Amino acid sequence: MPYVVTENCIKCKHTTCVEVCPTDAFREGPNFLVIDPDACVDCDLCPAECPVEAIFEEDELPAGQEVFIELNAELSQVWPEISTSKAAPDDHEQWNGVEGKLKLLER
Ligand code: F3S
Repeated sequence: MPYVVTENCIKCKHTTCVEVCPTDAFREGPNFLVIDPDACVDCDLCPAECPVEAIFEEDELPAGQEVFIELNAELSQVWPEISTSKAAPDDHEQWNGVEGKLKLLER
């Protein structure tokens, strides 16, 4: 089962997760990252690197986060690869844990 980036990444986007990925499976959008499910090898390294706990294995998603399975698959086909971390948005702290961020996802 591949890993999935979920809602709490939106507008937090720490990008520390990408540094440990052995297959460079992360893809970058304007305010969110996704994992290419075809590139993910289920190594289990990235969840611990996310300070806002946004990454879960596909079959262990929190309730309500199932939509992100399809979003990771879809957006990974159009967003570019990211394998080096960068600074998080200046206002990332105020978005950690905010509900309903899906509507703020930029494509
Ligand atoms: Fe997002 Fe967490 Fe990575 S906030 S960019 S999944 S480290």
